[in-house]
Amino acid sequence: MPEAEIQQTAPPAFDVPRHVAIIMDGNGRWAAARGLPRAEGHRRGVEALRRTIRAAGEIGIKIVTIFSFSAENWSRPASEIGELMGLLRRFVRNDLAELHKSNVRVRIIGERMGLDPDIGRLLIEAEELTKNNDGLILVVAFNYGARQEIVRAVQRVSEEIANGRMTAAGIDMDSITRFLDAPDIPDPDLIIRTSGEQRLSNFLLWQSAYSELVFVPTYWPDFDRATLESAIREYQQRERRFGGLVAQTGS
Ligand code: IPE
Ligand code: IPE
Ligand code: MG
Repeated sequence: MPEAEIQQTAPPAFDVPRHVAIIMDGNGRWAAARGLPRAEGHRRGVEALRRTIRAAGEIGIKIVTIFSFSAENWSRPASEIGELMGLLRRFVRNDLAELHKSNVRVRIIGERMGLDPDIGRLLIEAEELTKNNDGLILVVAFNYGARQEIVRAVQRVSEEIANGRMTAAGIDMDSITRFLDAPDIPDPDLIIRTSGEQRLSNFLLWQSAYSELVFVPTYWPDFDRATLESAIREYQQRERRFGGLVAQTGS
């Protein structure tokens, strides 16, 4: 049926989420299912990331946040951590020029302290090179944990109070938001988690208060434009009420 075909392939016509955040999960299981080392799953995951960034731009999404390494991922074996750090280094070296050419602006959230100095430099280089781009914003959550981010914000608020620039009674939600890692980035409209797991794993806890959550069974290395579009279609079926009685637009 032609109608069904159009439904399958046409980009979403309306209410494209402005900000989509993705928990890229399932690389290890993708590899295990094929008798391959987990590292191969991570390598194929980088290819899925390239596809997804391209598709997001074409669909008209303005901001994509990706969970690439969590503060808790340090508990993995040293060999796997080494692979993941190596992949980040290669991603910045191989893909940064291309992202820059595509007018992508890269932002990084997460704790920088304690990272290998060369990784720290690469993250700064990615942000600096692309800071004047006005296309898709790619927010990379690296060494990121949401509770840690909130703790850092509370520390900053406490310093403001200690310095007499703020009072305890004056703290409101904006006071916290202001000290998060990317305060100018609007909250995600849609959070997608791949691999069938249905949890946030310490991702964007403050910012996800009213995000729509879509869980897809696909392992991350198999994620592509079609999976993204189908998650967006599910998002478009949701009625976002923000506590009120009628649906409101998210952005
Ligand atoms: C996601 O895939 C990548 C990272 C967390 C860095 P996993 O490595 O978590 O893969 P599974 O969940 O073990 O399959
Ligand atoms: C979340 O995936 C972190 C990233 C995708 C980077 P994990 O695989 O680390 O999460 P858990 O351990 O299953 O909750
Ligand atoms: Mg996982």
